[in-house]
Amino acid sequence: MSIQSTGLFIAFEGGDGAGKSTQAARLSDALESRGLSVLRTREPGGTPIGEKLRSLVLDHGHGTIDARTEALMFAAARAAHAHQVIRPALASGTVVITDRYIDSSVAYQGAGRGLGAEGVLSLNEWATEGLHPHLTVLLDVDPADGRQRRTAGDATEDRLESEPDDFHSAIRHAFLDLAQAAPSSYLVLPASEEIDALAARILERVESLLGDRVPGLRP
Ligand code: TYD
Repeated sequence: MSIQSTGLFIAFEGGDGAGKSTQAARLSDALESRGLSVLRTREPGGTPIGEKLRSLVLDHGHGTIDARTEALMFAAARAAHAHQVIRPALASGTVVITDRYIDSSVAYQGAGRGLGAEGVLSLNEWATEGLHPHLTVLLDVDPADGRQRRTAGDATEDRLESEPDDFHSAIRHAFLDLAQAAPSSYLVLPASEEIDALAARILERVESLLGDRVPGLRP
């Protein structure tokens, strides 16, 4: 099937401070300048209810949020995002670029909070009715580097970011395990690489995907 009828779904994943938002923006600009319809979105968020859930789950000050409640909140935001935003955009042939998706829940709630990958994955399969990205770009970040990057300036850390380095280390390995289990659906890159070089490698991979789907688009 062609891009016109199915769109292309790309997720950016990685630990906090990996530079996902910068790279998602670079990719989105590059594809738009080639005349493609692009939707850039993020999780948790992307819908009005998702943005409310985002503040509930990330802000400090809502009391204790146990691990299962946290996993369900991310999954609820994701269900709305998948059904209200991502599926309709893909159906109209749009390239959807999301900053985080199911892998973040598997890594943060499954590994970081210790709920286990299997249960978190099956919750999210149910929430999204099995909607998975065509490609996941994993920006692999060393936890110490990530913390240094995100606390540069006056930035304050949200509930998840302020967890200790061993939490972030478990997350890093969970992301890498997911990529290793399905290498053809992942592009794994070191977050420490220079911004322009990363952007070029990501665009090259996406253009090759687009070229396979829409003959003639490959440069
Ligand atoms: P993000 O939007 O990347 O944070 P920021 O914009 O501040 O860099 O992600 C918010 C936080 O939520 C991040 O610490 C990861 C966490 N998260 C989960 O724990 N599970 C999830 O399913 C998602 C989508 C995010």
